[in-house]
Amino acid sequence: MNDDKDRIVTPLNIVGDTENEYSLRPKKINEYIGQKKVKEKLEIFIEAAKKRKEALDHVLLYGPPGLGKTTLANIIALEMGGNLKVTSGPAIERAGDLAAILTSLNNYDVLFIDEIHRLSRNVEEILYPAMEDYALDIIIGKGASAKSIRLDLPKFTLIGATTRVGLLTSPLRDRFGVMCPMEFYEDDELKEIIVRSAQILGVGIEESAALEIGSRSRGTPRIANRLLKRVRDYSDVKGSGIVNLEVTKAALELLDVDKEGFDSIDNKIITAIVDNFNGGPVGLETLAYFIGEELDTIQDVYEPYLLQKGFIIRTPRGRVASDSAYKHLNRSRKCSKSDKNAVEQESIFNDEI
Ligand SMILES: Nc1ncnc2c1ncn2[C@@H]1O[C@H](COP(=O)(O)OP(=O)(O)OP(=O)(O)O)[C@@H](O)[C@H]1O
Ligand SMILES: [Mg+2]
Repeated sequence: MNDDKDRIVTPLNIVGDTENEYSLRPKKINEYIGQKKVKEKLEIFIEAAKKRKEALDHVLLYGPPGLGKTTLANIIALEMGGNLKVTSGPAIERAGDLAAILTSLNNYDVLFIDEIHRLSRNVEEILYPAMEDYALDIIIGKGASAKSIRLDLPKFTLIGATTRVGLLTSPLRDRFGVMCPMEFYEDDELKEIIVRSAQILGVGIEESAALEIGSRSRGTPRIANRLLKRVRDYSDVKGSGIVNLEVTKAALELLDVDKEGFDSIDNKIITAIVDNFNGGPVGLETLAYFIGEELDTIQDVYEPYLLQKGFIIRTPRGRVASDSAYKHLNRSRKCSKSDKNAVEQESIFNDEI
């Protein structure tokens, strides 16, 4: 089984990313590049809340790893002028742990719960009145003499982040007033992020080189920053100081990152669908088993980008390879036109896991 954290293009946080992470992270909303829709929405709601001297409504940030959810939570807290308290779904084991966190907050503070889909049910239930009424219901005593008392909480903002919004229960999801779907970044946005990071790191880089790295970063700033650091290493040793296109291409080839930002595992996924399952449909579980990867990893880490790039299509009967996948692998499709139409028809439904 492959460890996803060994991949140079994994969107997950790996050792080495955290070095300079703090300085590379934009601190203000106007330094935050891309995610236009989310940014616009947040800017308006933050300003409105500040005008009314109210806490910002609860925010849910959801989307694939490495797209800037944690960064955005930090920015929101700063813009609101409150303190940021950071925790995560798996870190809050008991309802009492969450109650302790909630009672330690002040007005306008931001509580950031990462991986919020991993909260246990009894912890989650504490959140419902906290989010809705800024109240904490505590049960005192046991059995027939048990009594519920209600404590007031400060006016805080909960920011939840998740890579798996589908796993959130609907009572929890419904209590968020601001829904922020995070999208993969465009190549030129990633280029801007790389140019900014290069400046912070004191690396001279040509625009064309920054765009080349951006276009191979799977739409993900975390990967863009990582590739920049590795290309800088290569350039320091083999180049002439400034990172140019030629050095960048050579470095990325050495790192085994192809033009799409795919590495061997992405290619394994598409090759398996095309060659071993005749283009699909193939269920995700079967596919995961076949290529020896965890189902969750494929679903969270690899698949979102392959779907977004249109290399695979989700249908009710499983995943199907698209024409772009065939083209990428230099293969020709072995099915008739009517089969192809059926695939296109099916892709309208995408409710399979
Ligand atoms: N919009 C942006 N502009 C500039 N840099 C960004 C932006 N978004 C993210 N980054 C960079 O990418 C890195 C990863 O972002 P972040 O940790 O916020 O992602 P995340 O969505 O919280 O990931 P995960 O799902 O793994 O928790 C940050 O350290 C930051 O340097
Ligand atoms: Mg994060």
